Amino acid sequence: MRFKDKVVLVIGGNSGIGRASAEAFAAEGAHVCLTGRSQKTIDETVAAIPGAQGFRADIADIESNADVLTAIGDAHGRIDVLFVNAGVGAFVPVPDVTAEQWDEIHDVNLRGCFFAVQKALPLMAKGGSIVITGSIGSVAAVPGNVIYAAAKAGLRAVARTLAVELIGQGIRVNMVSPGPTETPIINRSGLPPEGVAGLRDLMTDAVPMKRMGTPAEIARPVLFLASDEASFITGIDLYVDGGCVEL
Ligand SMILES: NC(=O)c1ccc[n+]([C@@H]2O[C@H](COP(=O)([O-])OP(=O)(O)OC[C@H]3O[C@@H](n4cnc5c(N)ncnc54)[C@H](OP(=O)(O)O)[C@@H]3O)[C@@H](O)[C@H]2O)c1
Repeated sequence: MRFKDKVVLVIGGNSGIGRASAEAFAAEGAHVCLTGRSQKTIDETVAAIPGAQGFRADIADIESNADVLTAIGDAHGRIDVLFVNAGVGAFVPVPDVTAEQWDEIHDVNLRGCFFAVQKALPLMAKGGSIVITGSIGSVAAVPGNVIYAAAKAGLRAVARTLAVELIGQGIRVNMVSPGPTETPIINRSGLPPEGVAGLRDLMTDAVPMKRMGTPAEIARPVLFLASDEASFITGIDLYVDGGCVEL
């Protein structure tokens, strides 16, 4: 029960890694608020987590989290743990990248995530913790991944700067960078079904453990970094990737 009575906000908490983390935080006693875009999966997730509250908010709109922040402010007056996890993927080879595709991904994965943190800061409790979902894509050379890789590399820089700026307020900021993980994001890559199957094979083969991770396997390190167990850790990027980056 590391999060007993803690107030946890999961941005992008209605699917995959975010949902697994929201469930795990709640199982350890947290009051969980979560956001996402799909009302259907928000409702399903909230129904599965006793006491959780869900809010529809698109982080590409930097004012979109106003409702959830007001609700948390009114009910609790603080956020103990902010998990910024929302993200979208895109596989486009360099010659085909359009400015619209670039902006669409960066508006969520970089600009949106930065402003989600900035807007939540007035509510962050001293001694609180921010965890941001990165990706090994920020350091791996993967053909077709230029838009996503650039956004996640930018987010890594954002996390470092936040960590140093917030250290005086007792707020730790860390990143968890998953390797290939079995979540709905793969079906949302814009590839046709045969492309998705090929992508899954390619991703699995690239993992030294020769399998994809599960959302729960990413959630566990997220909770560790968010908890007081990680009280002397700030500014890191933890690869949770079956050995992809280091082996
Ligand atoms: N799965 C992997 O292999 C992998 C690897 C490395 C990094 N990651 C990162 O892990 C994070 C979670 O992804 P996942 O794999 O769990 O995929 P997922 O199941 O597709 O979850 C993505 C989450 O982000 C939310 N989201 C996306 N765009 C949003 C927006 N504009 N505003 C608010 N919420 C938004 C989604 O909500 P809706 O469903 O309502 O849109 C959903 O909750 C992402 O940051 C992703 O880049 C994943």
